[in-house]
Amino acid sequence: MAVTAPVTERKHQVERPRTGAMIEAQNVSKTYESGSIRVHALRDIDFRVSRGEMVAIMGPSGCGKTTLLNCLSGLDTIDTGTIHIDGVELSHMSDNDRTDFRALHMGFIFQFYNLLPVLSAVENVELPLLIAGVSIAEARTQAIAMLERVGIFDPQTHHRPAALSGGQRQRVTIARALVNSPAIVWADEPTGDLDSKAADEIMELLRDLNEAFQETFVLVTHDPGIGARCDRIVQMHDGRIIDDGLARNEAEP
Ligand SMILES: Nc1ncnc2c1ncn2[C@@H]1O[C@H](COP(=O)(O)OP(=O)(O)OP(=O)(O)O)[C@@H](O)[C@H]1O
Ligand SMILES: [Mg+2]
Repeated sequence: MAVTAPVTERKHQVERPRTGAMIEAQNVSKTYESGSIRVHALRDIDFRVSRGEMVAIMGPSGCGKTTLLNCLSGLDTIDTGTIHIDGVELSHMSDNDRTDFRALHMGFIFQFYNLLPVLSAVENVELPLLIAGVSIAEARTQAIAMLERVGIFDPQTHHRPAALSGGQRQRVTIARALVNSPAIVWADEPTGDLDSKAADEIMELLRDLNEAFQETFVLVTHDPGIGARCDRIVQMHDGRIIDDGLARNEAEP
């Protein structure tokens, strides 16, 4: 598979300065209202991720990690602030444009796989390619190659998710997230449902893919061992980033 092309060279052509940052969020705030209760899920977040970086977001339950991921990836909207992905302003896009942008440039890995249960592993993986307009024959070839890259071979390739182990299911999810060569891969607790051995293997795979394809990875985890294998750990507390790991990295020789 080719190394990921920058977003600028892909279908979504937008004139913009190249800042060097893949993700740049400034003064981002997000409030949820449920009934009379307001939850300040994100408070004045400034966050920057370089191209090809692998960043872990950590912090206690309810501190806003999933909200941050969803807002940065355009799955959810923000109240104030700006978000640029490879120089493209995400926060001002229409819902349809954001959906197209995500499909073209982003891959998603969630804790509970989100695979379609009625489709086989290979059918799940070829879906994003078919949506992007790749021919059926080419999509099948690319999906099988990506599945083999993540360690899923015949006959598992043709099994439905229910007939796969948790670790195998997560490999299929990873193959589906990466098959389109996205610029950014978002992962929310990608190992949260796995035992420690499977979690370790999945983390090793993600690190290997990050290095091989030079794609930018942002992953949420509770596991310090997983965080330690990323380039940088960002700590959140009560809707704020309290340590973005940059000072520590710069202090290293
Ligand atoms: N759709 C929603 N409606 C109302 N409140 C929400 C909604 N989604 C999240 N919240 C609230 O926003 C805050 C941040 O939630 P979030 O899911 O981002 O936390 P988290 O850090 O991912 O937690 P966990 O580690 O448990 O997954 C929490 O107080 C949560 O209750
Ligand atoms: Mg969460």
